[in-house]
Amino acid sequence: MTETASSSEDLIGRADVDDLEAILAVSNEDRDALVSHVEQTSEVIFTWDYDKGAKPSLEKLYEKAKVSMWNGETDLPWETEVDQEQVFVANMAQNNADGGFADFDVVGTPFEKWTDADWMRFGIESQNWMLSQFMHGEQGALLCTAKIVETVPWIDAKYYASTQVMDEARHVEVFAKYLDTKLSGHYPVNAHLKMLLDDIVADPRWDMTYLGMQIMVEGLALAAFGFMHQMTTEPLLKKMLRYVMSDEARHVAFGVLSLQDFYKELSDAEIFERQEFAYEAAVRMRDRFLQQEVWERMGVPVKEAVELVMRTPTRQMFQMMLFAKIVPNCKKLGLLDRNDKWLRHRFEELGVIQFEDWVDTADEYEKFSLGNGELTIAR
Ligand SMILES: [Fe+2]
Ligand SMILES: [Fe+2]
Repeated sequence: MTETASSSEDLIGRADVDDLEAILAVSNEDRDALVSHVEQTSEVIFTWDYDKGAKPSLEKLYEKAKVSMWNGETDLPWETEVDQEQVFVANMAQNNADGGFADFDVVGTPFEKWTDADWMRFGIESQNWMLSQFMHGEQGALLCTAKIVETVPWIDAKYYASTQVMDEARHVEVFAKYLDTKLSGHYPVNAHLKMLLDDIVADPRWDMTYLGMQIMVEGLALAAFGFMHQMTTEPLLKKMLRYVMSDEARHVAFGVLSLQDFYKELSDAEIFERQEFAYEAAVRMRDRFLQQEVWERMGVPVKEAVELVMRTPTRQMFQMMLFAKIVPNCKKLGLLDRNDKWLRHRFEELGVIQFEDWVDTADEYEKFSLGNGELTIAR
């Protein structure tokens, strides 16, 4: 098995997963372009088997989706006034935090001279950045899911995917509206996120779209939205995230339920390609959260800033939490332990294997339904 394995260099473009120089060397070249073209050559599949419910778990999900639609324009309190500075202060107070930097010594670092106003600006830029990346990721989900409608061979999956297309359009719409009307600036798509989205849409194998999008990107989004939903004191954002999460939980379930049986049939060599793909996606997502563009905009030396941030406990906890859904879902799909536990070892290196026995997302979507009140990310 190992002789066919790609080198770390081939997979993620560097030998050492923590090589910061290499990570930061990746930047978005065409950040000013209005559109981005990605070549892809997938086969479009018609099916003449219209037997609805042949895959009962997908049919159930489809029926659930039909009655769970909401309207981004009318169901959210857009009249809410959002003052980003006040929100920053309130969030810090509620979460007993100071921006996450109390836990390292700033003496001798670029942050030594930072005033409270600088920290405030950093908090606001971080929020602009975070929401911008979520919006770009949502567009990725929109395109990927439209592609799944074309490429998946089963009618129940085509039906379900079509509802997800509508969900994702709504998500792009509400994130864009929030950015435009409540926040104070956009960021272009992060280069690591864009590389990942390109890889996912360009891959001709239909299941790779699911693995990249529903399992990895949306698995991370579900955890990240949950974290932000818990942390924020801003009522409009809180409600918006709550609504988006009710959809995302179904989307991740769609990935797990679609791939579960299919992956049981694959050979070790085929599974290995999926394991590598999942690992590559995990690394890209971790890299993107270093938010290098924010440091650039704040005018501090990026590498130094990132090195410091990576060492803070708050940051490390956040980075790990992002994998709270991905790892159990990969386990459920049988991806952790095939081929001599290859992916398990990679997740050990990334420091996220401890989530393997947390709740997977195959049927957690009921719990995330609107009307079920408040949410926590369950163990
Ligand atoms: Fe979404
Ligand atoms: Fe989604």
